[in-house]
Amino acid sequence: MKIVLSGPKCSGKSITVSKLSKILGLPLIESDELIENLFHQKTGNKLTCRNICSEFGEDTFREYERKAIEEISKNDWCIVSTGGSTLLNKTSRQLLRDKSILILLTATSEKLLERFNKKSIPAYLNDKTAQELFVNRCNLIIEVIKPFADIIIDTSNINIDKTVNSIYEELKVEISLLSQKPNTFGNIVRMTTFGESHGPAIGAILEGIQPGIEISEQDIQKELNRRRPGQSAVSTPRNEKDQVKILSGIFEGKTTGTSIGMLIENKDQDSSKYDLIRNYLRPGTADFTFWKKYGIRDHKGGGRSSGRETAARVMCGAVAKKILESQKINITAHTIAIAGIKSNSVDYSTIENNSVRSADSIKAIEMEKAILKAKDNNDSVGGIAQLEITGLPAGLGDPVFGKLDARLAMAIVSLGAVKGVEFGSGFSSAEKHGSENNDEMRDGKFITNNAGGILGGISTGEKIIIRVAVKPTSSIFSKQQTCDLDGNNVDIQVEGRHDPCIVPRIIPVLETMAALVILDTLEIQKRVNPNFNNSNC
Ligand SMILES: Cc1cc2nc3c(=O)[nH]c(=O)nc-3n(C[C@H](O)[C@H](O)[C@H](O)COP(=O)(O)O)c2cc1C
Repeated sequence: MKIVLSGPKCSGKSITVSKLSKILGLPLIESDELIENLFHQKTGNKLTCRNICSEFGEDTFREYERKAIEEISKNDWCIVSTGGSTLLNKTSRQLLRDKSILILLTATSEKLLERFNKKSIPAYLNDKTAQELFVNRCNLIIEVIKPFADIIIDTSNINIDKTVNSIYEELKVEISLLSQKPNTFGNIVRMTTFGESHGPAIGAILEGIQPGIEISEQDIQKELNRRRPGQSAVSTPRNEKDQVKILSGIFEGKTTGTSIGMLIENKDQDSSKYDLIRNYLRPGTADFTFWKKYGIRDHKGGGRSSGRETAARVMCGAVAKKILESQKINITAHTIAIAGIKSNSVDYSTIENNSVRSADSIKAIEMEKAILKAKDNNDSVGGIAQLEITGLPAGLGDPVFGKLDARLAMAIVSLGAVKGVEFGSGFSSAEKHGSENNDEMRDGKFITNNAGGILGGISTGEKIIIRVAVKPTSSIFSKQQTCDLDGNNVDIQVEGRHDPCIVPRIIPVLETMAALVILDTLEIQKRVNPNFNNSNC
């Protein structure tokens, strides 16, 4: 995040940024100073920007200006002060606006000229025509930058302290808005989902997908069908076809490079069962916390907190999955435990052939029975899914906050009902000695994979192995104690249609969330190291 402050000459930039930088405790970068330093480094001449321009011509000056802006754009969490003319250039504007809040200081022409005249007027502005040119330039800067500015402060009639205070107040709002993007996920490959369980539709917008990639409605539908409700006795009987409608971004079977808009209409929502419990908080669901946070009660099907939202994610993830498959990166999830019944063999070909999506077809029968038994008892069960990613090169992921495992964990825990994530030997590593847990190497390869394919937040080239704990479905049909919206004790018997176990349905969602993370990480990697390719694994 950068805070970029700009404006025409005499709008009060220099003094404002230096005060702001102190208040916010952020380092200050002045583009003019950087241009002068770059020029000095290259030529050995110590000149001001104005002198570079007058002695070496505007083209030379702009060349140094572009280099300076490129340098500045690499910084994060800083305040940048730049002349309004710099932002007249489209490339510089794009570079400086990326992940930044743009503040524009303005003032009336009269005020700018008045302030200007108080300073010693440089020779080139000594006559009336030059002063007219100055005013026109200032007006042009304000006119061009205004539409891009997040904060605009007119400094004509306020002093510097008031200017700084106004900026500070507006910045607080902007920064809190920027940090609240709960419906958008990803950096370069970005997904935004919308819609509610009992609303007319749910949908998603997927950005950052390169043009020319072949994607058909069928590619997306295939994944949606795996997540769709009403598939078997162990999933909710809500009967949705989940038919995808592609609204934009795909033309004649290929991505156009613009945002891909996708929609699914909700056709089988039945809100009647929720009317009786309109003011009751369903135990284990997000009812209580949504009520506390928003003070608004959408009692129908959990609204935004419903597992139905994940259909929107699957549409986006299906696109990511297809792209990754073409690069031989495969993502598979399967159920390894339900209600304490653990699988003890792996045959990937059986996963889609049993109702619980287990790779152990024998244990799958026991797992299914356990779900049906809980369902008969008006109860639910939880379980564990295993997510595996193969074909990933070594070197993917970024240190500290961009760690690959951190990104994957965020994607997975963002799913309702997920209560635990472990990588590789995970929680069991806490009981081992280093001599057992370390993955030793021979001939450039790892002998074991206790790390689960990630070390230091960066892929090792080994299979990524993640296990995900999924809680038993909260909405159960037996009587439970709860409170109503006024805090009165009441008993509740939830109705509606629910999954007696979420694990089988979360499997395709896990795969698609992982696909989005991996594709995004690959796109980031291309920018960090354009020479990176899969051959270094
Ligand atoms: C695919 C999927 C299906 C779900 N189905 C249900 C359901 O039928 N009934 C229910 O109460 N919760 C269901 N959930 C879980 C809720 O979304 C979630 O448990 C609830 O919002 C509370 O959030 P938390 O468990 O993450 O704390 C489902 C979640 C997913 C990912």
